Amino acid sequence: MNDLGKGTTTMSSSASKVYPPSPEFVADANATKEMYDRAEADPLEFWAEQARRLDWETPFGDVLDSSDAPFFKWFIGGKLNVAYNCVDRHVAAGKGDRVAIHWVGEPGDSRDITYSQLKDEVSQAANYFASIGLQTGDRVAIYMPMVPEAIISMLACARLGLTHSVVFAGFSSAALRSRIDDAEAKMVITTDGQYRRGKPAPLKEAVDEAVGTGADAAPSIEKVLVVRRTNHDPNLNWVEGRDVWWDDTVGEASPNHEPESFDAEHPLFLLYTSGTTGKPKGIVHSSGGYLTQASYTFHNVFDHKEGRDVFWCGADIGWVTGHTYLVYGPLSNGATEIIYEGTPNTPNEHRHFEVIEKYGVTTYYIAPTLIRTFMKWGREIPDAHDLSSLRLLGSVGEPINPEAWRWYNEVIGGGRCPIVDTWWQTETGGIMISPLPGVTETKPGSAMRPLPGISANVVDDNGNAVADGEQGYLVLDKPWPGMLRGIWGDDARFKETYWSRFAEQGWYFAGDGARYDEDHALWVLGRVDDVMNVSGHRISTSEVESALVSHSAVAEAAVIGAADETTGQGIVAFVILMEGTENSGDALIAELRNQVATDISPIAKPREINIVPELPKTRSGKIMRRLLKDVAEGRELGDTSTLVDPSVFEAIRARQS
Ligand code: WT7
Repeated sequence: MNDLGKGTTTMSSSASKVYPPSPEFVADANATKEMYDRAEADPLEFWAEQARRLDWETPFGDVLDSSDAPFFKWFIGGKLNVAYNCVDRHVAAGKGDRVAIHWVGEPGDSRDITYSQLKDEVSQAANYFASIGLQTGDRVAIYMPMVPEAIISMLACARLGLTHSVVFAGFSSAALRSRIDDAEAKMVITTDGQYRRGKPAPLKEAVDEAVGTGADAAPSIEKVLVVRRTNHDPNLNWVEGRDVWWDDTVGEASPNHEPESFDAEHPLFLLYTSGTTGKPKGIVHSSGGYLTQASYTFHNVFDHKEGRDVFWCGADIGWVTGHTYLVYGPLSNGATEIIYEGTPNTPNEHRHFEVIEKYGVTTYYIAPTLIRTFMKWGREIPDAHDLSSLRLLGSVGEPINPEAWRWYNEVIGGGRCPIVDTWWQTETGGIMISPLPGVTETKPGSAMRPLPGISANVVDDNGNAVADGEQGYLVLDKPWPGMLRGIWGDDARFKETYWSRFAEQGWYFAGDGARYDEDHALWVLGRVDDVMNVSGHRISTSEVESALVSHSAVAEAAVIGAADETTGQGIVAFVILMEGTENSGDALIAELRNQVATDISPIAKPREINIVPELPKTRSGKIMRRLLKDVAEGRELGDTSTLVDPSVFEAIRARQS
């Protein structure tokens, strides 16, 4: 693990103005101050109460079983169906005509889907999945753009106890294949193509490449289920017996399906995320605990008012934010939400604000990167729209700089909307640290405090709490229902990654640096490990390095995340070429960037690649990434005395300018 302070921006809090909750919010908020006290007095009873917001077919007994920690179990003996909780129970309660999803396609097409319709479509998909022999516990990969069928597929899996593994449709076929193989998925669901900035782009092709045929075929895959979206290719490749159209199969299935209940601990989904070393890890989430956390946080952090609010989370379903706040959180609460297929500037920069205006969005949840992009585009764009329906704003994925916070508050929120800066991770399942609207005073840039029921601390290397004002490691020192249940197929890595750093105390180590300020408000400072955060996406330095060295011209590579005004961090690579390789300059750099896009995803392409004669190394052979960061960020170099050859930097600097 690297030293503290390596993360992104460090922000000063002392000078910041405090924003108290408005009287209207205080009067009508779902959350109350007394929840903190209640949760602290009896955390397990508090969580049991939250779990009872769900419908359980068999009630749980004990709330928590810690006997095999860190393999914690929650809501022991309880049985429920997650899809029933997200769909059927709202229909049964007479809310079937309520719109669940206002779907907005990129080219301008749209669909409103009520809870009744959602129930029918999820049931059809479930009936088809069952008819081809998929069984409880089987894994299904979902590689789709933001179309309603993506959510329908996730819920149909949940309904049958199939464990879904959504793979972001921006990932390469190589990345998809490794995830299919790791999970031994039996089916992939995809679309023929996806709209990207106004044009159809192929997607099924990537699945064909990933799944392969003959000797290269992914051994676990039996079916490729294809939703027709772009209809762009009359000669779409088709493997008889393996490939089927959604319309011909799901579309023909019965809309009646009786859900069965599953154990609270049944694995609802896997979601792959980058770690510091090796291949991405499949984070495992449970059914009962995860849904409890998703449902509880959505209700309280977003102050959700049934039948009144229109919620919009701008994330993609390929990330955990999309899982928890596009699917399980909103739908388990019977919410009405927006699902938008495209990018924020298609056909132009007004798109998001037009959607807010048209649908009367009340609650808007996006990443700081997008806020900073809006700032760059200029306030005339949001100012041209009536955004008065908004009443609450959220931020997620990376630290929000106070300047962006204030702009968000003023320009988008008209100064009247509380902002919830929500800290959490793929591993935590749901929001962990955030203000509660109507309860918490907020400070621009601070996630403020752990939610009721959640316990976090900031500690030094030995696990001692650091004084307010000092930096330390963020740890979660009590289990929580939405916590990851493991890394798919790798218990040792699970223990090593999250539980070994503070093994003695039994705490979860989050990988972030943080500090409490003088008012005990919590500031998350960014990763302290070799994980970068680019536009709120998590990318590991080692993954990008191995993509670069897989190119025949590259002997060695070092990658760092350098501060970037818009994306938080930008990827900067330093590479040494193989002996005898000619440096063809821009052409080679373009090839290397493409290599990363092919191995991982275009989102992981380095912003800058420097071809250098040598890398700065310690005498023990470790690359000094911190020094490379200094170079990339244009700072004076730190201490170079431990380097084998300090003169490398002259050469690196020379190449850079
Ligand atoms: C990492 C987790 C949470 C879902 C999206 C990202 C960073 C996340 C915040 C925030 C400061 C944040 C952390 C964390 N992060 N939210 N509000 N303030 N940092 O999920 O890909 O698992 O990444 O994102 O560094 O460890 P993820």
